[in-house]
Amino acid sequence: MKTTRLTVTKRPVETIDADLLVYCAAEEKNKAPLCDHFIKDPVEKAFNLEDFSGKAEEQLMFYPSSVNVEENIKARRILVMGMGKIEKEKKISKAFDLLRKIGGNMAKACEKTKAKTITVCLPAIQTLGPEKTAECFAEGMLLGDYRFLKYKEISKKKDDYAGLKMIRFACTKAVNSTRKGVKKGVVAAQAACEARDMANEPGNGWTSKEFADYAKTLARTHGLAYTCLEKKDMKKLGMGGILAVNQGSAIPPRMVILEYKPEKKSDTILLVGKGITFDSGGISIKPSSGMEEMKYDMCGGAAVLATMQAVGEEKPSVGVVAIIPATDNMSGSSAVRPGDIIRHFNGVTSEIVNTDAEGRMILADALAYGIKTFTPDCVVDIATLTGAVVVGLGHHYSGLMSNNDELTDRLICAGKDAGEPLWRLPLTKEYKKQIESKVADIKNVGGRWGGTITASAYLSNFVDKTPWAHLDIAGTAWDFTEKSYIPKGPSGIGVRTFLNLIRDWKKGGLT
Ligand code: BES
Ligand code: MN
Ligand code: ZN
Repeated sequence: MKTTRLTVTKRPVETIDADLLVYCAAEEKNKAPLCDHFIKDPVEKAFNLEDFSGKAEEQLMFYPSSVNVEENIKARRILVMGMGKIEKEKKISKAFDLLRKIGGNMAKACEKTKAKTITVCLPAIQTLGPEKTAECFAEGMLLGDYRFLKYKEISKKKDDYAGLKMIRFACTKAVNSTRKGVKKGVVAAQAACEARDMANEPGNGWTSKEFADYAKTLARTHGLAYTCLEKKDMKKLGMGGILAVNQGSAIPPRMVILEYKPEKKSDTILLVGKGITFDSGGISIKPSSGMEEMKYDMCGGAAVLATMQAVGEEKPSVGVVAIIPATDNMSGSSAVRPGDIIRHFNGVTSEIVNTDAEGRMILADALAYGIKTFTPDCVVDIATLTGAVVVGLGHHYSGLMSNNDELTDRLICAGKDAGEPLWRLPLTKEYKKQIESKVADIKNVGGRWGGTITASAYLSNFVDKTPWAHLDIAGTAWDFTEKSYIPKGPSGIGVRTFLNLIRDWKKGGLT
């Protein structure tokens, strides 16, 4: 992935030399703008002519030769960003999102002008403070500057715009808090962008092997414990779910495990992510139209792996274990058949009615194995699990199902602050009844109705009493609500929600 350099400097700096220089203005006439160091005159004129009012996400561009700026400003362009009434915003998570959106707009403005370097004069937002302001700006800018050019051989040579090289934040005070905030934003955004890269990779570019290789590299870089269960291990352990899904494929399955343990004794959070690197549906094959999209069926796995990158960098005080059951779902001659009965890791038997309901089969083994091996204090799985969640919630909310109210509250809160909203669906015994089988303990589909919930009912057989939540991101992993910092395509969803959960983890409360 491309790396952008970020620096924080104290103003007034000797010279501001950037392709684009950004100031921020509040939506209030005659009020001093949010930046003290400001090109007052031209902005006032624009206010008076009603060309610009400082509304959220509104923009005004100047060229230094046409306005009287201080001598030390050598910027080629000056952009004034409207901040709206951000200081009056009562919902803090909305203020975070506005800052990320403005950050994303800065990246877009750079793309438009082909600016490679940007300096942002940070506004002093009383209600948020310098750390959070810098964090959200940095996060939004890096997320908005995302692009995937790996396979663009010809246009790369044509010297197309390849994104920002340098971001500089200039502030008058609180340099240390600003640096801290920038660092947090960078860690979160880079991890989310890594998850996007994984998702952009096609089925032949990102297989179970690439999951394992990436995890191994993370483990080496950050001192995490790495384990990879190979096919023979799965056979020994009796992981009939992932083995069955893999049966029709030429690429071996892998169960990739990363462990981060803090120095002091702590709680452990287990994260499990669906890593289907391509979902053809298997023998219950999908229609060909749009099937190419099923390369993104590994976004859950990408989210938990990328989260471990951030965890490795930040070394939080809570323990985190990530498990990615990884395989593609193909229809080779040895593929699992509809009607076959398999046995999962914990002994539960399952009738495979539809081979396209494969996600729950690999997650089942991973959940049961993870809980038995690591006895976590809670477990969260994340998966592009059902088309039904897209019908129900569209592309704007991920579905959440859980056996624990406190964990649900924490996740909803973490998601809200990340701009990744979650909506809880009920998970009661009626739905569990829908997946009862005549010939096995359970079956892998529960009929036409409530498909998102019956999928989670299946998973509930593998978590025992452990506080558990399941996130269905089928509608949000790709083409999530479009914003300046969320482009079309892979969103990297889950990474920043998990990071919030981990950063704010409070011991106990989950029973
Ligand atoms: N990977 C799909 C779910 C999916 C659908 C993800 C659309 C992203 C966009 C999953 O494996 C699947 O095929 N689910 C089936 C389940 C059904 C057979 C019970 C579905 O939702 O149709
Ligand atoms: Mn499927
Ligand atoms: Zn799938």
